[in-house]
This record gives sequence, C-alpha cells and structure tokens, in this order.
Amino acid sequence: MSSYEARFKVWRGDVEGGALRDFTVEVNDGEVVLDIIHRLQATQAPDLAVRWNCKAGKCGSCSAEINGRPRLMCMTRMSVFSREETITVTPMRTFPVIRDLVTDVGFNYQKAREVPAFVPPAGVGPGEYRMMQEDVDRSQEFRKCIECFLCQNTCHVVRDHEENKPAFAGPRFLMRIAELDMHPLDGAAETGLDRGRTAQDEHGLGYCNITKCCTEVCPEDIHITDNALIPMKERVVDRKYDPLVWLSSKIRRR
Ligand code: SF4
Ligand code: F3S
Ligand code: FES
Repeated sequence: MSSYEARFKVWRGDVEGGALRDFTVEVNDGEVVLDIIHRLQATQAPDLAVRWNCKAGKCGSCSAEINGRPRLMCMTRMSVFSREETITVTPMRTFPVIRDLVTDVGFNYQKAREVPAFVPPAGVGPGEYRMMQEDVDRSQEFRKCIECFLCQNTCHVVRDHEENKPAFAGPRFLMRIAELDMHPLDGAAETGLDRGRTAQDEHGLGYCNITKCCTEVCPEDIHITDNALIPMKERVVDRKYDPLVWLSSKIRRR
C-alpha cells in the first residue's frame, strides 16, 4: 500500500465568520475525502465539525464543496486528484453555516412540509393499488433521492439569492411535486388540489430556467431536469392553454 502527504485547505468557522486553514495530511490508497477529514479530526483538529453517517453514499449527510464542486465527501475518491493538487473543502454555500463543514439545511425541511402529501384514491383500499409498470418505473427514479440537498445547494436561483428562497422550493421538491402529479393513483385533483398550478404559483417552478446544474451534481444520477422539471413545465402549460381544462376548472371553482 502506498501513501503520500496531501495538502488540504479546510474552511473552519461558524456563523460569525471563518477562513480556510491549511493542513498536510497522510493519504492511503483507496481513500475518499471523508477519510481524510476523519484523519484530520483524529490527528490535528479534534474539534473539526463534519456531518456524516453511512460512508456509503446513501444517507446524504456528508455534502460539501470540494475544489468548488458540490459533492458527497464519502463518494469522492482521493485518486481523482493529482498528488500535487491542494484540495479545498468548504461547506455548502447556499445554507447557513453552523460550524466548519456543517450547515443548517432546515430550509429543505421547510420546503418539504409545504408539499401536500400523496392523496390515497377514493374507494381503493391498501393492497388494492394497481399501477402500470412504466408508472412504477417513472416514480422509482425520483425515489432514489437520498436528500443530500446538493441540487438545492447548486441551483443558481437560490445559491446567491437569499431573497428567492421564500418563493422557490428548489429542484428536489419541484421533483417531488412532479412525481405526485405523474402518479396515476394520486387523488389530489378530486380534492381540488391542482399540483401543477401550485408548482407554478406557490413553489416557484417558473424560476427554473432549466440550466440543469442540479442534474449535474446529483449523486444518484436522477435526471431531475429532463424527467421531472421539464415535463412538469409542459403539463402546466398544456393545462393552462387547454380549453377543456380551462372550462372545467372554471366550473369547479364556482
Ligand atoms: Fe441529492 Fe439528487 Fe436528491 Fe437532489 S435529487 S437531494 S442531488 S439525491
Ligand atoms: Fe435550478 Fe435545476 Fe432549474 S439548477 S434552474 S432547478 S434545472
Ligand atoms: Fe452518508 Fe456520505 S456519509 S452519504
């Protein structure tokens, strides 16, 4: 097994402010960035704050920015960097820092609460749900989400625009609305809830100009833009300009 000494810059600080700190740290074959952060904790910076749980790319906790790119620390192999490179690790930029690499991702939980849940279809009991396999496959892709919030962190609508946060749910939760809107058994429409309209009017779908940055950073390789956001936009437009849909919505609102 070979090892070498790597140069790291790690952001240290809290809500009051902070700065990049330099470290030189041992790296062994097969290690990932999270291993190095753990070695820093064990040898040089015992109070370095970092959030992680699974070290397997499944819990979504260890999101950070590595050389400026939003990534999971546990899934970023040290072998993707040259040995001469200085590796910079900073907390996600879109969310307020709590300490060091740990951010307050409460924004995302707030947005999750604002999306109305699946409405069970009337007259169909548990165990009686039947769906076409293609409908199952469609929502299966979205359900791979590990809630790492890297897409939320990356989207330019909120990344440098705190003022947009109240009006924009972000790609992860617009995808959730799209998933429910495409669900053949969701009974929201029967209760008067138009998921497409709320995506547009209440969750900021119109802010998304399909730059696809969210899709590029998704560690689960979910095609957020192509399979959720663009179809959602098309469905909203179709409904708005479909005369039958327009007429029935007017009648229903009476
Ligand atoms: Fe993370 Fe992808 Fe889920 Fe966004 S959609 S929270 S990037 S797993
Ligand atoms: Fe943002 Fe993704 Fe749309 S990055 S602008 S939500 S395509
Ligand atoms: Fe769970 Fe990285 S520690 S995804």
